[in-house]
Amino acid sequence: MAAAAKNVQNKIEALREKIRYHEHRYYVLDDPEIGDAEFDRLVNELKKLEAEHPELIAPDSPTQRVGGKPREGFVKVAHSSQMLSLDNAYNEQELRDWERRVNELTGQKSVEYVCELKMDGLSMALRYQGGRFVRGITRGDGSTGEDVTENVRTIRSVPLVADIKKARLPAEFEVRGEVIMPHKAFERMNEERERQGLPRFANPRNAGAGAVRVLDPNITALRRLDFHAYFLLVNGRVHGKEQWENLEALSAAGFKVNPHRRFAKNIDDVWEFIREWEEKRESLPYEIDGIVVKVNRLALWNELGFTGKAPRWAIAYKYAARAGVTIIEDIKVQVGRTGKLTPVAWLKPVPIGGTTVSRATLHNMDEIERLGVHVGDTVQVERGGDVIPKIVEVVEHGKTEEAFHMPERCPECGGHVVRVEGEADHRCVNANCPAKLRESILHFASRGVMNIEGMGDALVNQLVERGLVRSVADIYDLNKDKLLSLERMGDKSARNVLNEIEGSKKLPLERVIYGLGIRFVGERTAEFLVQHFGSLDDLIEAATLPEEAAAIEKLEQVEEVGPRIAASIREFFVEPKNRELVERLRKAGLQFKGKRKERGTRLAGKTFVLTGAMEKYTRDEAKKLIEDAGGKVVGSVSKKTDYVVAGAEPGSKLDKARELGVNVIDENGMEELLGVG
Ligand code: IVH
Repeated sequence: MAAAAKNVQNKIEALREKIRYHEHRYYVLDDPEIGDAEFDRLVNELKKLEAEHPELIAPDSPTQRVGGKPREGFVKVAHSSQMLSLDNAYNEQELRDWERRVNELTGQKSVEYVCELKMDGLSMALRYQGGRFVRGITRGDGSTGEDVTENVRTIRSVPLVADIKKARLPAEFEVRGEVIMPHKAFERMNEERERQGLPRFANPRNAGAGAVRVLDPNITALRRLDFHAYFLLVNGRVHGKEQWENLEALSAAGFKVNPHRRFAKNIDDVWEFIREWEEKRESLPYEIDGIVVKVNRLALWNELGFTGKAPRWAIAYKYAARAGVTIIEDIKVQVGRTGKLTPVAWLKPVPIGGTTVSRATLHNMDEIERLGVHVGDTVQVERGGDVIPKIVEVVEHGKTEEAFHMPERCPECGGHVVRVEGEADHRCVNANCPAKLRESILHFASRGVMNIEGMGDALVNQLVERGLVRSVADIYDLNKDKLLSLERMGDKSARNVLNEIEGSKKLPLERVIYGLGIRFVGERTAEFLVQHFGSLDDLIEAATLPEEAAAIEKLEQVEEVGPRIAASIREFFVEPKNRELVERLRKAGLQFKGKRKERGTRLAGKTFVLTGAMEKYTRDEAKKLIEDAGGKVVGSVSKKTDYVVAGAEPGSKLDKARELGVNVIDENGMEELLGVG
């Protein structure tokens, strides 16, 4: 090889090493060393070199996680050894019965155990050859699963190259573990589905299973799945001496191994761990449904063997489902910051998993109709993680079946309530509704937004009632005197609140945008807006262009922003009162600048219009694919449109395209342009 070529290859390898290191810090250890911008810079540098030297692209390069081709279907693959399930224990007695059998069969008085969280996801087998990831297989029926390699490759915590030297692993091995969808990703996905009028997924496991089994890996990549390793096989057999050591080895090799594991000297230690996590599980960012207890010494595994489908060397301690049955005593309506009326079920208090539940959200009228609930019905209520309790189903209808109706007047201010056609929500249209003001201040101050600790219900209620805060900008005009005029506000608390307010000024622009409370603009859209425009001024400039259509078109270039969101952003910023508010926030010293993000160039300058239903993608997904490739997706067809992608039952946009002589392509044509078909 010529010296120059060798040089490039070395450079590429060094970059990959570096990126792998930082991916591991970020996605596996949750402890990044460098910022996103620096990381993106490294990846872009590698992408550039690989583009210049396509012959050097390798499947294990960090750039190859996404961009795989959609498939026709999945190939069935036999497992190296059965993927078993576990027997369950539901109480301390059953756990101790299990340990007695372990002791009897192994002839020991007491044995060591490893306690692991039982993540509620789907199990997966990952094969490595030469230390490189080659295949991902679903559990299937336990003997045969489906090859979902390309989809698994997009899960960032799955190392494409394992550090077999450090972990002292053979070059060929198999790792089994759980693919999970964290609560946050689950909520995001459901929000997106709601926006598209699709039904919500019932739980993260179903949503995760769906994401692993979509034919297009680009879609899996959007779902932000995670993988936790818990089991090591070599040649289809158990390997090594101890489960504990194996988990350590997997961690050293670069896998994410759940950090909440414990070595237990005996069954009493196990029981302590189980009790400890019964409550702590509420605080985890993902769902667990129990604890898996495994005998630590692998030599004993052979002696213990199997019962039917499950090993005797492990047991799953299942926590009681966090569900309960109770009666709906009333359905009341809450007014949110956008004026949205949310029906909330007032329940006969019922203990569920350590807390008493007395309210459950019913989301909207559609949900009430879907469930068919009435006041007086007996219902099943479920609670998971930090998710608000929800009603799963009606167990038994009450005697009187009076249908619930949304009020015609806002319960807070008496303003008119409307339901815009095609929308699920009813809302109060009074701009000065005090509930809206209160909720918008609470939203602005909340942890995920401007994070002003101490500014909760009690304080905000007073501030609004006394007229001290009439908009979020007034927060920055608060001073000690004003605060001290409130009830239950001492010198120290006032100082704390003012400090918190001061601290909030440092938070990044996306939080400020999210905090403004623009309808349909959540955390994620705010992020995309910043990535696209880079500053609040540029966003406002685009949103307030004199010509409405031009403004909407500009806004629709932002990832995941469709006509509805674009219209709402424009509506917000053309309102002089809101512009005034923005100026006051600027004067107060909030962050108005952020960072733009680079995008692909394959479709740079091309404008697309999507119409009709596609088979493989939702609207938002197709839009993201096009935008990631540098193209833009707009809502209406004009002479400037380059392509109309027509799916099943296309609307008038197709006629318009034909009339104007715009290129019409189908889903496959789009994939071809994207280079994924
Ligand atoms: S061990 C034979 N460890 O629970 C070994 N399983 O109910 C079987 N699971 O199918 C797996 N967390 O999908 C193991 N730390 C953990 C686990 C775990 C979740 C799942 C796995 C398994 C199911 C059995």
